[in-house]
Amino acid sequence: MTLYGVGLGPGDPELITLKGRRALESADVVYTPGRLSRSVATEYIDENRLGDLDFPMTRDEEKLRRAWRDAAETVAPAARDGDAAFVTLGDPNVYSTFGHLRRTLDAFHPGVDVELVPGVSAVTAFASALDVEVAAGGSLALHEAANGAAPTGPQRMILFKITDAPETARKLEAAGYEVVFGRRLYMEQGETVVTDDPTDLAERDYYTLAYAEQPGARQQRATDAFVSADGGHVTGIDDVDEERSEGVLCGDGLAHREVPDE
Ligand SMILES: C[S@@+](CC[C@H](N)C(=O)[O-])C[C@H]1O[C@@H](n2cnc3c(N)ncnc32)[C@H](O)[C@@H]1O
Repeated sequence: MTLYGVGLGPGDPELITLKGRRALESADVVYTPGRLSRSVATEYIDENRLGDLDFPMTRDEEKLRRAWRDAAETVAPAARDGDAAFVTLGDPNVYSTFGHLRRTLDAFHPGVDVELVPGVSAVTAFASALDVEVAAGGSLALHEAANGAAPTGPQRMILFKITDAPETARKLEAAGYEVVFGRRLYMEQGETVVTDDPTDLAERDYYTLAYAEQPGARQQRATDAFVSADGGHVTGIDDVDEERSEGVLCGDGLAHREVPDE
């Protein structure tokens, strides 16, 4: 049978996909790597279908390897004799514990079939929560930035695992970035915070990310022509200056696209 790696979304149980929910409901046993993923999963399944895995809080690679081998020993027979699911917050293939399990299974239990069910990742959820539009023609880099780290280079970045928001903000601002933080976005547990003031986040919380952008990174978009210079809205194309309206009609700002976005 199959092991399903199921993405639960950012934490709000309503943000799991229908396919993910079905995979949970039909699995004989569901494994969860932590408390938050467990609380989302149990919105859809009975606690008695949860499987037990032990994940030590350690950076010791030897202990971690042993823990993953033990986890694979437990999961492999469950996924051979029936359907099993391993859930993660967000997407199972984005900075996720599922990768460790999968590699361990590939190495020691290669007969186990694995299927992924994507989830709404913080990589995309942040865009709605922080109201950041990643418009056509734009690019966005993904980094980790724990312990006050501040990777720089790309004009627009999303930074995961922020544990020292003030220090990360200080370094990014010195490098010319504007930074907005998001904590516990679309999560039911704990307080959701969206702020550009890192002192609001002085207390460490693992579920914190940052969006950093250099001024000038924003691309010109065709529909910008509908916004007047003072930030108000123009009502019709006749109100837009001739050069800009021509851009709209010719599709400028829709660079590299021959079909409209869905
Ligand atoms: C190990 S990664 C897991 C990412 C997850 N697999 C995903 O696709 O969203 C954990 C990091 O993702 C970010 N993160 C995950 N969920 C979040 C949320 N709901 N709100 C804010 N940040 C979140 C945080 O930076 C956190 O340190």
